[in-house]
Amino acid sequence: SIAGCTGSTPAESTQQTADTATELYKVGIDGGPYPPFTMIDDQGKATGFDVESMKWIAEDQGFEVEFNPISWDGIIPALQAGKIDMVYSGMTITDERKEKVNFSKPYWTVNQAVVARKDSGVTVDDLKAGKYAVGTQRGCSAGIWMEENLVNEGIMSEDQIKSYDNTPLAVNDLEAGRIEAVMYDSTVMRDIIDGKENLEIVGYIETNEEFGIAVRKDDTELLGKLNAGLEKLMASDDWQELIDKYKMK
Ligand code: ARG
Repeated sequence: SIAGCTGSTPAESTQQTADTATELYKVGIDGGPYPPFTMIDDQGKATGFDVESMKWIAEDQGFEVEFNPISWDGIIPALQAGKIDMVYSGMTITDERKEKVNFSKPYWTVNQAVVARKDSGVTVDDLKAGKYAVGTQRGCSAGIWMEENLVNEGIMSEDQIKSYDNTPLAVNDLEAGRIEAVMYDSTVMRDIIDGKENLEIVGYIETNEEFGIAVRKDDTELLGKLNAGLEKLMASDDWQELIDKYKMK
């Protein structure tokens, strides 16, 4: 039977959809856990501070969103290729990235936290002196900082930077004693080690990094909507509620 095809007026309904269609934007988030900003829950659904913020902005600005998990080190190429329309997953605004993408106004600031096993004697000064094997997530600002400030200066060797697909994996290796420290975005580090009695933050590197939402260079229309929505969200009580809900610090 072709029951499913009868009784409808496809031409008419398509027309109607086209007239009233809301824009659907694909939001690229990290495929791995990046708590509390973006995570995938047991049902495979995207959650987190950035995800909920984006849903708020989309509703306010009258567009729809779909969340696409992508591996972090390929996320800017995916944006440039049009597989996604924006990256909203704690991306630090940097001059190098600005050559490839445009950023919204900043919405959060972090430093780099250095985490070690308790009583290991690991210090930030010794890390800066190139004494340790340090874990971090591939393609992230922590590794870039070590490259620029330690490896390029001949203080640290390239193979002392241990790159992982996501930060919880680096923390596992730290707990197992395979690396001496993990360096990563402070807000994320505080979340990941919460409840881990054997680990502690031994100090910070003050990078004062600002997070923004990245869009393609030519997508000024979307950038305008994102900035307008973000501004309204950050001025509303819902912003503080989200910060409290995700225990952001
Ligand atoms: N803020 C750091 C950066 O931009 C790390 C971001 C990682 N984001 C993620 N979703 N894993 O390089």
